[in-house]
Amino acid sequence: MRHDTMNQHESGSAGAADTATGQKKIGEVILDVHNISLRFGGVKALTDISFNVREHEVRAIIGPNGAGKSSMLNCINGVYQPQEGSITFRGQTFKHMNSRQVAEMGIARTFQNLALFKGMSVIDNIMTGRNLRIKSNLFSQAFRNPFGIGGAQKEEEQHREFVEHIIDFLEIQAYRKTPVGTLPYGLQKRVDLGRALAMEPQMLLLDEPMAGMNLEEKQDMSRFILDVNDEFGTTIVLIEPDMGVVMDISDRVVVLDYGKKIGDGTPDEVRNNEEVIKAYLGTSH
Ligand SMILES: Nc1ncnc2c1ncn2[C@@H]1O[C@H](COP(=O)(O)OP(=O)(O)OP(=O)(O)O)[C@@H](O)[C@H]1O
Ligand SMILES: [Mg+2]
Repeated sequence: MRHDTMNQHESGSAGAADTATGQKKIGEVILDVHNISLRFGGVKALTDISFNVREHEVRAIIGPNGAGKSSMLNCINGVYQPQEGSITFRGQTFKHMNSRQVAEMGIARTFQNLALFKGMSVIDNIMTGRNLRIKSNLFSQAFRNPFGIGGAQKEEEQHREFVEHIIDFLEIQAYRKTPVGTLPYGLQKRVDLGRALAMEPQMLLLDEPMAGMNLEEKQDMSRFILDVNDEFGTTIVLIEPDMGVVMDISDRVVVLDYGKKIGDGTPDEVRNNEEVIKAYLGTSH
């Protein structure tokens, strides 16, 4: 939708752009987090954090409990307003984004603590991800065809079809009509991913999509994340406290500890970083 608005000036080391890593094509910088600091009273949740995300990348944020990972996503997402710094998405710099603006720009989000409607079916939960699009479509439709109830129904059908496509993609057809609250936790996480995908985002922010899962569920979820990245070309920013999982699926990793950035690079670079090793020793990870 906004591909044409891409602005080159934020692209940093443009020389490294457009290089293919394996078969995968990593593009220009599309998200640039610049010197972000966030405080809650005396608590410094984030101190002077800068990093960037390239188009089509799987970018992980890792770090021990309380490191500031969720706070970082909340800043990108417009839920928290940092006291200092700025965030640039596709060349547009925002000091204070609100969540709706961010969603309209094509950034969707899943939450560490699921934000689903437990009593509603899988299909209806995923449908809530279409709301942003349904509203804008109905609005423009009213101008085009004020008497066109039939048109609105057709619109609704198209949205349902799109949702069915997501349900097939995530292999949850068997649970389409099941109330989400009755599903095992691993499947609820998958529905939450479906809700975010229904927004057709250019960038997906995933806060611990594998939390509370067993190994097999983690492998499934990793595969879905990689498939979304591959098939839809969606850029992924992923929080995961477990180093092992994240190293397998990420192109680059940011490491936070006590609100500070202590590492940034490829999985191999980060794994061999002394400060990162120190931060992870003595924690349960
Ligand atoms: N809304 C808030 N009000 C006050 N303090 C907060 C708030 N949100 C986060 N914090 C504090 O900011 C720090 C970073 O928290 P954050 O939730 O971002 O860490 P995290 O890395 O996501 O941790 P976890 O691995 O436990 O999810 C913590 O000290 C936390 O208590
Ligand atoms: Mg968190």
